[in-house]
Amino acid sequence: MKYSVYFLHAVLHCWIVGLVVSIVNGKQVWPVPYKRVDKRPDVDPFCQALYPFCPTGDPAGQIPVMKESDLISIFRLQTPVWEFKYGDIMGKFHIMHDAVGFASANTGRNYTMEWYELFQLGNCTFPHEREGLSAPFWCNQGAACFYEGIDDIHWKQNGSLEKIGEISGKLFNEMARWVQEDNETGVYYETWTVKSDSGANATTWFDSYDCSQFVHRTYKKLMDLGTQLSSQTPLKYTKIYLYSGEPLYLGDDSIFQQSSTKDLAADIRQFYYSFRSHQSMVEMIKSLLEALEKMVVEKTFYFYYNSQYWKLPMKYPYLKITYEEIPFP
Ligand SMILES: *[C@@H]1O[C@H](CO)[C@@H](O)[C@H](O)[C@H]1NC(C)=O
Ligand SMILES: *[C@@H]1O[C@H](CO)[C@@H](O)[C@H](O)[C@H]1NC(C)=O
Ligand SMILES: *[C@@H]1O[C@H](CO)[C@@H](O)[C@H](O)[C@H]1NC(C)=O
Ligand SMILES: *[C@@H]1O[C@H](CO)[C@@H](O)[C@H](O)[C@H]1NC(C)=O
Ligand SMILES: *[C@@H]1O[C@H](CO)[C@@H](O)[C@H](O)[C@H]1NC(C)=O
Repeated sequence: MKYSVYFLHAVLHCWIVGLVVSIVNGKQVWPVPYKRVDKRPDVDPFCQALYPFCPTGDPAGQIPVMKESDLISIFRLQTPVWEFKYGDIMGKFHIMHDAVGFASANTGRNYTMEWYELFQLGNCTFPHEREGLSAPFWCNQGAACFYEGIDDIHWKQNGSLEKIGEISGKLFNEMARWVQEDNETGVYYETWTVKSDSGANATTWFDSYDCSQFVHRTYKKLMDLGTQLSSQTPLKYTKIYLYSGEPLYLGDDSIFQQSSTKDLAADIRQFYYSFRSHQSMVEMIKSLLEALEKMVVEKTFYFYYNSQYWKLPMKYPYLKITYEEIPFP
């Protein structure tokens, strides 16, 4: 009896202290805003790309300047990630990659613009263990890639290629400046969208930051510049969801340096240990399925966002990969 009163007291005390802290810090804003940086940091040489990033793009990331009077067509481009290499498995999950195409009426040249992981999806979703480092190590940058050419067959055959609007050369150049700024400040790929449930009124705790979000932002920029965009078919995007109760903030890499958070640090490392090898897309999907199993049993996901860790109290249906309609902004 004495103990339980004592216990209750301790719980209440924690609860009240917790309450005070959250009031002092002001109300937590959901979804947690994605943090931009002043300047893209250099990539650590530990991160080695299996496939080179943006092999046919301009090495300095330059986007050609269009003549102001030019008329530029805008294309919506989408293709399944599973083609060729991965066989059927990705088809089932409907993982699609999105991009935007441009074609100049003046020169007849055309261009593809996309945003993707520097070191592939697996590296953006799960960290590495590094000798001599106690914190998990992430190779999770993503970036915009702009290159000449639109490979019609690649996009058309199993995906889509559709003209959705036109823009003047002058406004295209403005968009290009925005792309470069966006590319310099939004540098970390975020795979997951985290929501309170799968219903229509769910709270979004965290938004993903991926290729489709880039395309969506680009459409918004084009529309802000006064462009009319329209599509004959619904705009659908792949989303990878986690479902959880209200996330609990844990801290940044200092978790792994302080002795007071030793047990938490060990838990987080243990959590990510099962996902350490993932060279291919198929292995990545296998890791996701393993993650799902773990979530069902342990109901905990250690989530990394803005270079900080959060604890997600996971809920049914835990994880979902959807291909859903998201209209023009
Ligand atoms: C993921 O990162 C590791 C560590 O740098 C690297 O060895 C591996 O090639 C990367 N995977 C891909 C698919 O780029
Ligand atoms: C975006 O940043 C990456 C990484 O620094 C760079 O390789 C790429 O060329 C940049 N893209 C554009 C369009 O500026
Ligand atoms: C892009 O240019 C290539 C080469 O001229 C052409 O074959 C292709 O049809 C063009 N695609 C679009 C969507 O303009
Ligand atoms: C389209 O899908 C078919 C059937 O899976 C495949 O054989 C073909 O290579 C794909 N084409 C492209 C361009 O991705
Ligand atoms: C969502 O919220 C609206 C307005 O509060 C309500 O009318 C609607 O029934 C809710 N829908 C679901 C699925 O809960």
